[in-house]
Amino acid sequence: MSETKFTRRKLMQFSPAVPAILRSQPGPELIRVAFVGTGNRGTALLRAMVKVPGVQVVATCDIVQERAENAAKLVSEAGGSARVWTDFRRMLDEQKEIDAVVLATPDYTHKDLDIAILEVGKHLYAEKPLALTPEDCRMVVRAAQQAKGIFQVGFQLRHDPRRNAAMKFIHSGGIGKVLMCHGIRHGGDLPRAIPWYFDRTKCGDIVVDQGIHILDLFTWAIGTHPVRAMASGGTNLFINEPPGRTVMDNYSLIFEYPNGARVNFSHHYFDPPGFTGIRELVFGSEGAVDLAAGAWQPRTKKGLLKLEVRDADKDANYMSLAAFIENIRTGNRKPLNDAESALRATLQAIMATRAIYERRPVSWEEVAGTA
Ligand SMILES: NC(=O)c1ccc[n+]([C@@H]2O[C@H](COP(=O)([O-])OP(=O)(O)OC[C@H]3O[C@@H](n4cnc5c(N)ncnc54)[C@H](O)[C@@H]3O)[C@@H](O)[C@H]2O)c1
Repeated sequence: MSETKFTRRKLMQFSPAVPAILRSQPGPELIRVAFVGTGNRGTALLRAMVKVPGVQVVATCDIVQERAENAAKLVSEAGGSARVWTDFRRMLDEQKEIDAVVLATPDYTHKDLDIAILEVGKHLYAEKPLALTPEDCRMVVRAAQQAKGIFQVGFQLRHDPRRNAAMKFIHSGGIGKVLMCHGIRHGGDLPRAIPWYFDRTKCGDIVVDQGIHILDLFTWAIGTHPVRAMASGGTNLFINEPPGRTVMDNYSLIFEYPNGARVNFSHHYFDPPGFTGIRELVFGSEGAVDLAAGAWQPRTKKGLLKLEVRDADKDANYMSLAAFIENIRTGNRKPLNDAESALRATLQAIMATRAIYERRPVSWEEVAGTA
């Protein structure tokens, strides 16, 4: 909370533990938030958001009424009160007090819903990916640039305390010139209870929907977008499981960057629990960083050195949402997970997916044009 001074009285107004009567006079910093899409992710974000100081969650919306109601119950349990909606356009039209929206609807809805919410002037925290095609991504970015509100995208790992500290270390030259990033995301299959995850026309397939987080981190570490993607992927184990599945269950990617750096990333769903998990390693001329551990090792010495990590006990979702609220208060239109970085990450994921489907190297220009 750098620029905002919370008086004791204002903090009391915001705290869910304080009786409603004492919270009835909102201070100028109070931000009223609506949640749209309160399924798996929306609920996780809501649990984090009710802990952010100075926030009142005033509305929950889902086309499945029961989910919006369940989310409103979570708000009540945290000491607040939220109106329940099934139509976000009606909600925005009628509940004028809403300052900001957190959007966690399926990927194929992002372009239309992002634009609709930005156009009515609300601040928007929208889940990744930006959209499913380069053209749609650019439409969202244009809407964000023209919007009155702040636009932040769900790349919460940028705010994860360890990864954030690691990235500052890399950008300050701690490991010298970044030469290569090596990542794995190995785990079990996607959640069977969420059918749209298995339909590539709805989620853009698993690079765009899942691998995108790690690609975003690596490209952030390197500092520019890749120029070429080479890739291979497919479905080796979960063939037609669940029935009608069109998304892959494994792939491997190599990206080349204009400064000579390379990214090497593999992702699959065959891992027994806890077998190999997630690794995000960045190698430089002077040493290597383990992003998730917030630690590094000089190239010529043995022994991992812990980086200084602020807020090490805070989780990435909380930090990302707290940053969103702080950006609204301070008018910062350049969040860490802003429209432009989300565009780059989404285009990179689309580029790799195209390389897999078309079995050939794909250049950045082919997906991004001259953008
Ligand atoms: N950043 C992350 O780490 C992370 C993790 C998981 C999911 N996600 C993203 O979050 C989003 C949601 O994923 P999920 O796993 O919660 O899926 P989900 O299917 O569990 O939840 C989506 C919810 O949106 C609702 N919905 C659909 N259209 C709507 C509309 N027009 N108005 C209101 N509600 C609507 C659905 O009924 C559902 O409850 C996706 O974009 C996904 O990529 C991000």
